[in-house]
Amino acid sequence: MKHLLIVIVMILVWINGLIWLGNQIDPSNRYPSEVEYKYARYCAGCHGKDGEGNGRIGRFKKLDPADLTDENLWTVHNDEQLLTSIRDGKNDMPAFHYYLNDEDQQQILDYIKAKYRQ
Ligand code: HEC
Repeated sequence: MKHLLIVIVMILVWINGLIWLGNQIDPSNRYPSEVEYKYARYCAGCHGKDGEGNGRIGRFKKLDPADLTDENLWTVHNDEQLLTSIRDGKNDMPAFHYYLNDEDQQQILDYIKAKYRQ
């Protein structure tokens, strides 16, 4: 009986350890909010961590991603146009409706506007 108890406790400790490990390797936990994680995951590769259009993929593939800190981008296009570009893609920018639903796209747009628009 005592042994059974020890085995059960060990199994519980083991499961707990696995859950902890799973949380450690889940990349979304490294970001303070969901939207920051999504920008990092889907956009930063091209537009860069600082939004200046100098992400690694963008540079490597010479795609010339838009500089999100450029005031012109925000004055020339309204939200509707920018959302269309995010949803359907634009030239070398891929379409994101496969990965992000309308709400995600809107949240990311609000996020980059608040963060990068000067
Ligand atoms: C594979 C590289 C790549 C990724 C990933 C990428 N973009 Fe872009 N993005 C571009 C390029 C290239 C342009 C310039 C398109 C043009 O004007 O020809 C662009 C343009 C834009 C523009 C300006 C659109 C316009 O109408 O002028 C916005 C806003 C934008 N991206 C937001 C995002 C967001 C948000 C994400 C993540 C969900 C993202 N991008 C991911 C490459 C990328």
